Amino acid sequence: MSLIDVSEGQEEAFLAIASEFSVLMAKKNYGRADIVRDEASPTTFYAVRHWASASAAEACHADPEVSALTSRLYQVATITHVVNGVRRGGPMRLVAPDRRAHGMESDRRSGFDRRLKDDGPDDEEQRHGDRRLGPRRLRGRSGPIDLVAVARRARENAHAEFSHFKVGAALEAADGSVVAGCNVENATYGLTICAERVAMFKAISEGHRAFSRIAIVADTPTLTPPCGACRQILWEFGGNLEIILANLASDEATHSLQTLLPLPFDARLL
Ligand code: THU
Repeated sequence: MSLIDVSEGQEEAFLAIASEFSVLMAKKNYGRADIVRDEASPTTFYAVRHWASASAAEACHADPEVSALTSRLYQVATITHVVNGVRRGGPMRLVAPDRRAHGMESDRRSGFDRRLKDDGPDDEEQRHGDRRLGPRRLRGRSGPIDLVAVARRARENAHAEFSHFKVGAALEAADGSVVAGCNVENATYGLTICAERVAMFKAISEGHRAFSRIAIVADTPTLTPPCGACRQILWEFGGNLEIILANLASDEATHSLQTLLPLPFDARLL
């Protein structure tokens, strides 16, 4: 079940995408998608997916046609997943790219079996205030992820030998997983990559195709916005993302990417 806030003037585009999605769900026997408009707020919708089976849900999440539609959706609306069945910790088998995102990969610190047996306090409580806070340790959380905290931690890994300007980013994918990035500089200067693009390229390479928010942190009194190149990349892969800017003090500001990049060029114009 998702809460969908459609951008002003994009209702028609949203309804067209929603109806394409319903047709696709039916055609591929994934199940049914219901969209309900909020009575009090005409740009707010509720989406409920009725899956034919758990494996239909898995197949749908791995379907490239669905990913393409989801990317278009993220360009016209902000999506909040209220209940996401695929994220539950039960025995349902997840498709390969999702296994890492959901903390089910077996590694020496967190084998799947060990995770199921762990009945101690959840990671967030256990490590409150721990400098090692990172996506791997946010499993089992109950509230929304503190994206700014993840970006601050990522900033510590910045490779900024030349500018000494360290930046961290934390990108939230549509399934709730978070991918961090930092700027990586290079002696030729021009090959430097900003934190935002590192996060986005990491996420794409891990199979994510739809995104909701990104937090960007630098140690500046005036909050650091993404550069032009990053705005373009974030738009092309993430659509109208929510952009949270923060510093090491408690200053924070939120923008939509559309306001930072008002007349974007993208594949629709090709
Ligand atoms: N930088 C980022 O990583 N993100 C931004 O939003 C602005 C700039 C990096 C690039 C370079 O390594 C350093 O900050 C100085 O420009």
